[in-house]
Amino acid sequence: MIYFDNNSTTRVFESTVEAMLPYLTQQFANPASALAHMNGITRRLQIEKNRLARALGADSGDQLIITSGATESNNLALRGAARANRARQHIVVSAIEHPSILETCENLGEDGFRITHVPVDRQGVVDADALVNALSPETLLVSVMLANNETGVIQPVGNIADTVKKHDPLILVHTDATQAVGKIAVDLSGALAEVDLLSLSAHKFHGPKGTGALFVRDSDLLAPLLYGGRQQHGLRAGTENTAAVVGMVAALTGLLDKSRCFAEVAQLRTDLESRITGLHAGAFVLGAGTERLPNTINICLPGMDAEDLVDRMASADIAISAGSACSYGARKPSYVALAHGLSYEQSKSCVRVSLSVESRAEEVDRFLQALNELVTASVAHSTQKLGSA
Ligand SMILES: Cc1ncc(COP(=O)(O)O)c(C=O)c1O
Repeated sequence: MIYFDNNSTTRVFESTVEAMLPYLTQQFANPASALAHMNGITRRLQIEKNRLARALGADSGDQLIITSGATESNNLALRGAARANRARQHIVVSAIEHPSILETCENLGEDGFRITHVPVDRQGVVDADALVNALSPETLLVSVMLANNETGVIQPVGNIADTVKKHDPLILVHTDATQAVGKIAVDLSGALAEVDLLSLSAHKFHGPKGTGALFVRDSDLLAPLLYGGRQQHGLRAGTENTAAVVGMVAALTGLLDKSRCFAEVAQLRTDLESRITGLHAGAFVLGAGTERLPNTINICLPGMDAEDLVDRMASADIAISAGSACSYGARKPSYVALAHGLSYEQSKSCVRVSLSVESRAEEVDRFLQALNELVTASVAHSTQKLGSA
């Protein structure tokens, strides 16, 4: 199989599994138990959280709430902030956020919150002026993702956070960094020093599924969504999954040590991009003129049906996606492509190719060959239909 769908999920590294294994089969005590305190499991959990904090530039592992993934982290960020400060009932988000943000906002809207969706420009970058103009004394929180899952377009979250805090230091800034962590530098004491809340998910960086975290700069900013235990300073009740946390941290630190490999991924992506645009008349890459993740290309192939193309590629044992993996089968145009200003038809013709540090040049060659065959067959089919019409 050629797996070019790494923004959907990634393969777990063998080294990650090895790191996790002892915490499933031997050191399995409940981290809140006396036994775990005595044999060092509780301490190990804290050490792992501290390592994760260091990798993100955070001050301490205590600022990380371990969750079941980014969907939960995003829900906790928005709903938890809304519960902690009932005086403010306005939330500002970008129009291209992941559904775990947009649908949480929709739900908060039903509870009386006012939601502003800030547009993006044709490159997919959030309109910072429109964002600032949307702020009001009722604004509780601003949420802008660090990198978009469909296009890889990187948002100027550091600058946005600085501007928002200058406008009103009480407005919280959240960023969904799910696609950015492990692929680009994420520094909560540098460029992102004004960010209050940050979401991440282990399965996007070769860690286990069902594990993620929410960085919370100051625990007073949130009220819990889950009750029933004092774990994680009362902010997220439930037995902590030591093995999963060990796996998440092993995967991330392993990946960050491979930063050189990401330069190679970027090179592979550039090569793929220049060759893919030549395959189809009128093809273009979303966000080509702005900063993007090193592994992601979203290409519009006008006249092609993206979902059909993805299905045909899957039959050839090649994994790519149309829009985000969660929307597969929706047969709807990508709302992210529409937000870039693409037409309805163009937005149904966009496919995402997402590489990883494991991707190889030979795979790119084979992928392009398969794509070329499908595109040529589709063009021949359309010409034939036109001829017989
Ligand atoms: C930007 C973004 N946010 C949130 C999520 C949800 O992540 P999880 O699968 O960990 O719930 C995803 C997953 O595709 C994503 O890409």
